[in-house]
Amino acid sequence: MSDSPTPSAPAPEPARSAKARSNFNNWISAVGGVVAIGALFSFALLVWMDFTQGEKNPYLGIFTYLVAPGFLIAGLALAGFGAWAQRRWMVKHANAPDRWRIDFHSPAQRRGMAALVIGALGFVVLSAFGSYQTYHYAESNQFCGQVCHSAMNPEWVTYRRGAHARVNCVECHIGSGARWFIEAKLNGAHQLMAYTLNNWNRPIDTPIKNLRPAQDTCEKCHWPEKFAGNVEMVFDHFLSDKKNTPYTARMLMHVNTNVPGHPPGGIHWHVNEFERVEYFATDEDRQNIPWMRVVNKKNGTSRVFRTDDFKGEPPADKVRVMDCIDCHNRPAHVFPTANEAVEPAMFTGELTTKLPNIKRGAVQAMTQKEITKDAEAPQKIADFMRGKYNDPAHAVDLPGAINSVQKIFSSTIFVDRKADWRVYPNNIGHKDWPGCFRCHDDKHKTAQGQKVRSSDCTSCHTILSQGKGTDLELLNAKGLEFKHPSGDLDPELSCADCHNGGIQK
Ligand code: HEC
Ligand code: HEC
Ligand code: HEC
Ligand code: HEC
Ligand code: HEC
Ligand code: HEC
Repeated sequence: MSDSPTPSAPAPEPARSAKARSNFNNWISAVGGVVAIGALFSFALLVWMDFTQGEKNPYLGIFTYLVAPGFLIAGLALAGFGAWAQRRWMVKHANAPDRWRIDFHSPAQRRGMAALVIGALGFVVLSAFGSYQTYHYAESNQFCGQVCHSAMNPEWVTYRRGAHARVNCVECHIGSGARWFIEAKLNGAHQLMAYTLNNWNRPIDTPIKNLRPAQDTCEKCHWPEKFAGNVEMVFDHFLSDKKNTPYTARMLMHVNTNVPGHPPGGIHWHVNEFERVEYFATDEDRQNIPWMRVVNKKNGTSRVFRTDDFKGEPPADKVRVMDCIDCHNRPAHVFPTANEAVEPAMFTGELTTKLPNIKRGAVQAMTQKEITKDAEAPQKIADFMRGKYNDPAHAVDLPGAINSVQKIFSSTIFVDRKADWRVYPNNIGHKDWPGCFRCHDDKHKTAQGQKVRSSDCTSCHTILSQGKGTDLELLNAKGLEFKHPSGDLDPELSCADCHNGGIQK
């Protein structure tokens, strides 16, 4: 192939010998051949590496099952193209006989054909194996969470510390069945493009508009018959005072109050089999809900609740049927507020409570307006805390505290991605975001003036015990009235009007 002309640089070739020159004998095919052989070798090597150490390296899969086969196919295609171009040129310019004619009488051709069939079979088997592995790889948590590193890092970090850290991304985001698989892959191809072109939103939009109905995904593992009755929860806090006084509320959540023979009741009533709740939100984040309707699934009768200032009817395509995600919108990716992130660290002792006002100090250090990039956060946090605790008496505890606040920051606030609790509300409660109070306030009424039931403080939960430090009120099975730590509350105010997780105004 060395001294032969390329199709683009024609030079008449003398008829040299009886044995005609192969069409593959040209520079383009040669390059293609080298690429293909190289890719084949790398593929073999990478498969071997994937089997021996694949778990450890998230990028290995992408090279093994996407990049290497891509080069192999490109190389083969290039070789074929070279041969085709060469043949065209030869037939046209050199008057050579067209040797691309199948002739079963020729033993050489029969041998070539057999080699071709075996090669093709081998390739099909290899590519089937490759596609299977590619399919698996594209479904893996590593691909979702780590390869798109900078894009999905916040979701990956939050996922890994959640209750679902061992549940694969695809089990919630895709579920089983061909239709959703195809839809997800089309979507995914689009996202991969956006990622490659660095043309994606920061923060990534939420809620996800085409998420599969939660019944199909969540109920694979949490089937309704299994729902608990009451669930006990303990909320441990620290007050923002000098002594960092602990404050605890222990409560029973009335998740499911089903009694055989009675209609379903309790918090999970919203996903019961007889009725469904539909609602209309005026904003993309589904935080402002002026209209909702309870529809009887059997006979179609319904009751509509609306706020006074919402007139008219909502657009039909914007009405959403409530499912698990409308309350559990953060089952895997909880972005705790700065307050919520600091408290558990104080509780476990990771963040010292010896420094006065450390809760407030830590929250302030984390929410400084000056932090505009992930990379500069550690330094700014350290500077802020050194300024605040410059008394020599704090010299012993300060370095540890700085270290721990830096750690809390980096696992909960992602400045580069603009991802934290301020843009990812959690709808499960009502303290730091509107949550349940989006609908359960006294403002939604039927035309007859009937309010939404279960909007008083005892219908969703019973407070068993509450209080500061060791002065916890004794356990009371009948339930206690909530005593707010800073004194009586104005009933006009919602909890989230004051509690915003540490945003500084
Ligand atoms: C237990 C179910 C579950 C698992 C497992 C899960 N997710 Fe999610 N994910 C959700 C839900 C629910 C939402 C929010 C949907 C909404 O509000 O519309 C979400 C939202 C997201 C978003 C959009 C941004 C946001 O925070 O709202 C991204 C990106 C994401 N998930 C990526 C991942 C990745 C990557 C993995 C695996 C490492 C994963 N998810 C695993 C349920 C899950
Ligand atoms: C593949 C199975 C699986 C799927 C799918 C799944 N979960 Fe879970 N979920 C679990 C397991 C297992 C636990 C228990 C973890 C534990 O006990 O710590 C759990 C725990 C929970 C809890 C208790 C949370 C906590 O912090 O203790 C909630 C709430 C929950 N899941 C909601 C959901 C929702 C909503 C979805 C759908 C978006 C979902 N799950 C999808 C397996 C699953
Ligand atoms: C008028 C503003 C305001 C409203 C409304 C309000 N709070 Fe508070 N809340 C405070 C203040 C101030 C503190 C004391 C802060 C501190 O010392 O940490 C506090 C402390 C708390 C604490 C303990 C410490 C902490 O930071 O979590 C809890 C729990 C709490 N409130 C729950 C609620 C709930 C639930 C509601 C709604 C029913 C509510 N609050 C409504 C202002 C308010
Ligand atoms: C989209 C609006 C909406 C949201 C959000 C919402 N609910 Fe409801 N909820 C309703 C409606 C509507 C009813 C039925 C009201 C009626 O018929 O009077 C209801 C009824 C209930 C009931 C009474 C069930 C029974 O036993 O009859 C409970 C308890 C309840 N909700 C708890 C919650 C909790 C807890 C949250 C937050 C995690 C929440 N809800 C969020 C709309 C909502
Ligand atoms: C109206 C809001 C709402 C809806 C809708 C809802 N949940 Fe819940 N769920 C709650 C609340 C509130 C709790 C109590 C725990 C808490 O506050 O975190 C809870 C608890 C749970 C638990 C934990 C129970 C336990 O034994 O620890 C699971 C699992 C769960 N829900 C799954 C689901 C699934 C699956 C769906 C959809 C079929 C669903 N939920 C629909 C509000 C809701
Ligand atoms: C519609 C149901 C519902 C109503 C009504 C309701 N709550 Fe809650 N509340 C919840 C849920 C759900 C949570 C648990 C949130 C979670 O899982 O983090 C909660 C949590 C709390 C907490 C603990 C919050 C924390 O982080 O420490 C307090 C305190 C509380 N509620 C007080 C009240 C008071 C006071 C009222 C009356 C003004 C009230 N609740 C009315 C559903 C309700």
